[in-house]
Amino acid sequence: MYTSEVESAELVRMDKPAPRDWAQMDKSGVKETFDSIADYYDHMNRVMTMGRHRHWCKEVARRAVVPLGGSLLDIATGTGEIALAARCLYPHAAITAADFSESMLAAAAARASADRISWQVADANSLPFADESFDSVTSGYLLRNVDDVYRVLAEQFRVLKPGGNLVVLETCPPTGPLSPLVTLGVRLAIPMLGQAIAHDRESYKYLRDSTLAFIPPEKVAGIARRAGFQNVRWRRKFLGTNMILWARRPA
Ligand SMILES: C[S@@+](CC[C@H](N)C(=O)[O-])C[C@H]1O[C@@H](n2cnc3c(N)ncnc32)[C@H](O)[C@@H]1O
Repeated sequence: MYTSEVESAELVRMDKPAPRDWAQMDKSGVKETFDSIADYYDHMNRVMTMGRHRHWCKEVARRAVVPLGGSLLDIATGTGEIALAARCLYPHAAITAADFSESMLAAAAARASADRISWQVADANSLPFADESFDSVTSGYLLRNVDDVYRVLAEQFRVLKPGGNLVVLETCPPTGPLSPLVTLGVRLAIPMLGQAIAHDRESYKYLRDSTLAFIPPEKVAGIARRAGFQNVRWRRKFLGTNMILWARRPA
């Protein structure tokens, strides 16, 4: 039964996330997947989240609380939804948006207002930024794609200024009485939509499996605390299938 596979995967990941055996996909496979879906990523996202994704990105930007004239890094920016929301909210801030997929960055840089953002190729495992560079660091749907969540959060801690804010948007396995139904819906709907809209069932099978097998917010919070963050809070969204988690680097 798939649910118990998810549960056992979660147990293994309590301290150090295990390799993603659901897809046996390494970093270059993940990059290839996102390179291949860049053209229809936004449309698929809108359909899969029934338009909620854009609102969550705005909430992420709002929770990032960038001071006047401050700076924000959006890592794994993809087509730049969080970075563009931050640009709108904090017109005087320096916004850097980074991703390791050149195709996603190209789609982002082609959007309206993109010229006011610094787009950069960067790997979240090893950020090309000095210690204590940013007032806020955000990410959307990054953590479930990396092998070592601790390492990636520790990197974000490193580049944040003391007192800086971390905000994470991520999928999570549903919980509660409706979870078997929601899980079934996610299992069936994502590859079907991938096939119907993008003619690419395989890439969306990866997205489905990485979504269902990712760790719940409590565990992400535990890893964030181990990386040094304080005041870790989160909110589940969309029948518990998504979360927004926020935290602070101590001053
Ligand atoms: C599902 S998309 C999310 C894009 C955007 N944040 C959003 O909310 O729509 C995930 C993004 O993470 C990027 N990504 C995955 N692993 C990464 C890594 N190690 N370093 C940088 N970017 C990464 C992918 O290239 C992709 O653009």
